[in-house]
Amino acid sequence: MAVILKLDRVTKQFGGLTAVNDLSLEVRQGSIHALIGPNGSGKTTTTNLIQGVFPVTGGRVLFRDQDITGKPTFEIARQGMARTFQNIKLYNTMTAIENVMVGGHQLAPMGLVSSLLQIRRSRSEERMLEEKANRMLEYVGLASIGGELVKNLPYGKKKVLEVARALMTDPALLLLDEPAAGLNPSERGFFIDLLRRINADGKTLFLIEHNMDVVMNISDMLTVINFGRKIAEGTATEIQNNPDVIKAYLGERYKVKR
Ligand SMILES: Nc1ncnc2c1ncn2[C@@H]1O[C@H](COP(=O)(O)OP(=O)(O)O)[C@@H](O)[C@H]1O
Ligand SMILES: [Mg+2]
Repeated sequence: MAVILKLDRVTKQFGGLTAVNDLSLEVRQGSIHALIGPNGSGKTTTTNLIQGVFPVTGGRVLFRDQDITGKPTFEIARQGMARTFQNIKLYNTMTAIENVMVGGHQLAPMGLVSSLLQIRRSRSEERMLEEKANRMLEYVGLASIGGELVKNLPYGKKKVLEVARALMTDPALLLLDEPAAGLNPSERGFFIDLLRRINADGKTLFLIEHNMDVVMNISDMLTVINFGRKIAEGTATEIQNNPDVIKAYLGERYKVKR
């Protein structure tokens, strides 16, 4: 299978702190690839480096065989990458569908709000965007709440809404930073099904997640980092039995019983 995303010895220093340390990994096209590790191990920083939110200190990022190191986020988005955030980034005083529509503006080289408010699009363009946003809401199972203000939605629905917004750009690769954090078990089950469906529909998923039920359940491949360094990589079974991973992160309870 082809590689869609490749990190080649990526390093990020914040002052004296090395948040990501010489990290190399390959995400295969069509897979669900998880990045796991303790709090502060550099997971969110890694997604920020992939997306060009801030520059790498060293190394290269390749996406669809193109070197995207140092490219601006909107350009990387245009090449087919989208993300959801660890801390929900939705506009509370806008409706659900308006928030999803913002996702369609995300390919513009300007801030989200400014692109939504300042670009005067023709009515037909706006209508097309709205139709697509409606399709995305339907796809994620939120068709009935399109007109509701985001601030009135429960947390679990907001997390799903972020996915709908990210899908507006038809990404080939979707980065998800702790999408299931804070969800209750039934919401989590729904989320797992949704991620599987998105993946089955052809999208590659790069997933940061703390909940081991979620991760071990759906990941084809896992990369484990600690202090910004890769300490292990493999399938769920391999990772669950890796002594370094158990020591640094999982603890004995995740070890598969024989
Ligand atoms: N913008 C930043 N400026 C300075 N330090 C940062 C910044 N972002 C993250 N860090 C630091 O980098 C380390 C890794 O953080 P992060 O990538 O958020 O970890 P994780 O997502 O794995 O919990 C932490 O020590 C954090 O404090
Ligand atoms: Mg994080």
